[in-house]
Amino acid sequence: MKRENEDVESEETLDPNDWESTRKLGHKMLDDMLDYVKTVRRRPVWQQVPEPVKAHFSVPVPQQPQPPEEIYKEFVEKVLPYPMGNIHPRFWGWILGTGTVMGAFAELLAASMNTNTGGCSNHVANYVEKQVIDWIKEMIGYPVAASGVLTSGCSAANIIGLTVARNAKAGFDVRRKGLQRASQAMVLYASQEVHSSIQKAVELIGLGKESLRLLPVNNYFQMDLGALKAAIMKDREAGCLPFCVVGAAGTTNTGSIDDLNALADLCQRENLWFHVDGAFGAWASIAPKARNKVAGMERADSLALDLHKWMYMPYEIGCVLVRHEAQHREAFSLTPDYLAHGECRLGLTGGDLPWFSDYGFQLSRGFRALKAWMSLKEHGSRKYARMIQQNIDQARYLGELVKASPELELAAPVALNVVCFRYVAPELDDAELDELNKRIIIELQEQGVAVLSGTVIKGRHVMRAANVNHRSRREDFEVVVREIIRIGKELTADCSL
Ligand SMILES: Cc1ncc(COP(=O)(O)O)c(C=O)c1O
Repeated sequence: MKRENEDVESEETLDPNDWESTRKLGHKMLDDMLDYVKTVRRRPVWQQVPEPVKAHFSVPVPQQPQPPEEIYKEFVEKVLPYPMGNIHPRFWGWILGTGTVMGAFAELLAASMNTNTGGCSNHVANYVEKQVIDWIKEMIGYPVAASGVLTSGCSAANIIGLTVARNAKAGFDVRRKGLQRASQAMVLYASQEVHSSIQKAVELIGLGKESLRLLPVNNYFQMDLGALKAAIMKDREAGCLPFCVVGAAGTTNTGSIDDLNALADLCQRENLWFHVDGAFGAWASIAPKARNKVAGMERADSLALDLHKWMYMPYEIGCVLVRHEAQHREAFSLTPDYLAHGECRLGLTGGDLPWFSDYGFQLSRGFRALKAWMSLKEHGSRKYARMIQQNIDQARYLGELVKASPELELAAPVALNVVCFRYVAPELDDAELDELNKRIIIELQEQGVAVLSGTVIKGRHVMRAANVNHRSRREDFEVVVREIIRIGKELTADCSL
């Protein structure tokens, strides 16, 4: 409203000056992105960012405005051609999700609403988040009474789960007194194959990495239960306080799954917190022929998982579930005057609706739930179950192709959706084969054929394909095997190796 003597014209906004040209640009962006995703198969999986393009991102901050059309043109020329490649059907490196079109649309809608789901429960995004968390529990068979919160990913989910575990099992008020006042060193257990985010979480919550006992694994890369029992006993004798076991539902290296029921039994007997890192493997629980592999996961006190990996949703979205809501809330809830709950209509704590900031370390939080809600409605849980089973079957198919090729050998059993294998040549020793396998990964990437990543299994460098890709087809695995053998032969024939 124009007030007297006020120069309204001098007030600025960041909204478009010209809504019509902005609308046109937005429509073009949408059209271009649909074509981009639709035609992804035709492009190389990855390509090197050229030096001039890198230099383009090393300039001072712009002080003057640029026309939106020009900015978009710059994006199309300098950004779009050099992605990580993980939306491509032949990307199986590390463990990277592929995203979906509806997920991308949802990101636009959520950003347009620009809702903050940290505080104030009386707006609809909180209902959507609660709905999504309920659906996750229903799909994976976790107790309905559990609390949960969507996170940036599984690293954050692991931090939250282990914080609740630490506070619940410390035997004193950690939030008030801090770990300095602990009379015993708190220790926890995981296998050597556990993801690095667990160590980071342990360091961040003040326990120090030495408190994380990394136990050996059996031939299936599962935690050695005898070693676990012995370690707990030894720590108790030494005056430490064992408080938690971290089970893996899908290790990053090989996709192996710990014996989760056995770990749950042991935790029950020994009064230990049972945390499961199910970043991707938790979703095996919905695959018709794989769900028995993660049996026992539903007994976890806390469970960390991702939706941006094996639920194919665009980055970032993970989730942590905690069996006992009160323990979860007690670890994070903090209500200064300026965040008083329920003092106004918007802040109202209504019925079962939480302030999600009471269940994690973030206050401001985006509307991540929308992409999950829209994606699950678009496809339905049964389609996701089929997609996950398809990825598992494809991984097994790749394993069979490897076994059928004399030039290749499996480096670990194919437990789920991860295949570790190695190019072999009788004339080369182990050290030379290590180098050869590393070079094949690089050549595959540089030639734009496929992206695999590497890892070390039993001391040897191997290639690793982790399949959470809803665009892959069986023929893609045939291509990668054929190309690996071609490149392997070319490199071994080349004396420069
Ligand atoms: C088993 C496991 N746990 C945790 C993480 C960390 O998850 P995020 O990358 O979503 O933080 C990963 C990532 O690959 C993982 O594979």
